[in-house]
Amino acid sequence: MTKYKILTGNCLDYLKKTNSLGEVDLTFLDPPFNQNKDYKFHNDNLSDEEYWQMMKEVCQGILNITSDGGAIYFMQREKNTEQVLSCLRETGWTLQNLIIWKKKTSAVPVPNKFGKHYQILAYATKGDKARVFNRLRISPPLPANYKFERENGIYVTDVWDDIRELTSGYFAGDEAIRDKNGERFHKQQSPIALLLRIILSSSQIGDTVFDPFAGTGTTLVTAEQLGRKSIGIEVDPKNAEMIQNRLEDIRDSDNIEKYYEEYSYTENLSKIWNGSSIKTVIKAKSKQPSLFG
Ligand SMILES: C[S@@+](CC[C@H](N)C(=O)[O-])C[C@H]1O[C@@H](n2cnc3c(N)ncnc32)[C@H](O)[C@@H]1O
Repeated sequence: MTKYKILTGNCLDYLKKTNSLGEVDLTFLDPPFNQNKDYKFHNDNLSDEEYWQMMKEVCQGILNITSDGGAIYFMQREKNTEQVLSCLRETGWTLQNLIIWKKKTSAVPVPNKFGKHYQILAYATKGDKARVFNRLRISPPLPANYKFERENGIYVTDVWDDIRELTSGYFAGDEAIRDKNGERFHKQQSPIALLLRIILSSSQIGDTVFDPFAGTGTTLVTAEQLGRKSIGIEVDPKNAEMIQNRLEDIRDSDNIEKYYEEYSYTENLSKIWNGSSIKTVIKAKSKQPSLFG
């Protein structure tokens, strides 16, 4: 029996009709950014008012199904920081950190102001305190001019500058899913490394991770490998089919094992990052998540 569930359709419809309260422990919220992109199954050119009203309903719906102390990571463009923070606050979430995800590619030049070099992730919880927060330690290369080697890495802070985005061109590497002509299947595919950090920080093995705008299913593919249950909703059936395929046959480029070393200074790593033997036990014991029927 699988630990993941893929639902095809509009996440708001599901969120409005579900009464499975308290079943989700962690949500990654990566909605379309309303930039008039050519999406087949949703309107990416809403008025600001309509868009933020919709996001408020989504945040409210997620809060309703989240366990006490559960977490949300809401990713957006930096220019929308103000709206993201008020959207979370007005729907009852408590902000814990505003994370800067600093891009590794060149900044986008903007005339008359500074170039754009980051995206935001607002990390918030249901209630004042997180039920789970694992303090991860990583070991990035020492900055130039540092005098002393580190003995045991450093704690992850609210600036994430070590995660490569999957932009166009060669930099997207193998991880970006492509069609037979080499075109990217989905331009907004998130990196596995980003979801790895979020899931490791804010959940335990056996918890349920939710992604209402699942896209190519990066959240589910990462959660599955970490022994978390997962639920993804995606409006485009072609994407939903891709998620199923990606989960059934985990590609080398999606395999999280290559990141293990990077986190090896984390005190409780073996408790939060299941090896394959632990994964088998969880698989055998866990039930299909009951959320959304
Ligand atoms: C920014 S992308 C998410 C990408 C994802 N993080 C990944 O790693 O592939 C947003 C996705 O939400 C989907 N979508 C748009 N409106 C939706 C809705 N109302 N309900 C569910 N999915 C929706 C789009 O088809 C798109 O695939």
